Amino acid sequence: MDTSDLIGLAKKARENAYAPYSDFKVGAALLAEDGQVFTGCNVENVSYGDAICAEKVAVIKAIAEGVSRFSKLVVLTDAQNPASPCGSCRQILFEFSPNLLVIMANLNGFAKEMNISELLPYAFSLKNTNKLL
Ligand code: THU
Repeated sequence: MDTSDLIGLAKKARENAYAPYSDFKVGAALLAEDGQVFTGCNVENVSYGDAICAEKVAVIKAIAEGVSRFSKLVVLTDAQNPASPCGSCRQILFEFSPNLLVIMANLNGFAKEMNISELLPYAFSLKNTNKLL
């Protein structure tokens, strides 16, 4: 599965976004190491704090299906400057794949790539403390 196919899937997922409050639709496509793809879109709520990000939907779908190792994520919006995953999503993605390649794309085909460890430097990890599990 190449990046342009993943971008296509994220675009399709974005069409299902439920974002009547922010009017900011986000689509995500998460490629697992075994080749499966899990898509997500943001889902908002009238209780605004209950909004769920597209990336979180994708990763939670995967975990619930027993898949937890990922290689690539596409996050797609209609913003001129591609949006990057929020802090909370970065932490959740890092938990499963500290080497994840994150592709931030928009509808015009512009994309920026960064590794999750660049997006979340000095991430919290119990391995870095002396409180080893
Ligand atoms: N959103 C995402 O889906 N992913 C992000 O990484 C950032 C923000 C959503 C949440 C909310 O529905 C809308 O974008 C505006 O913040």
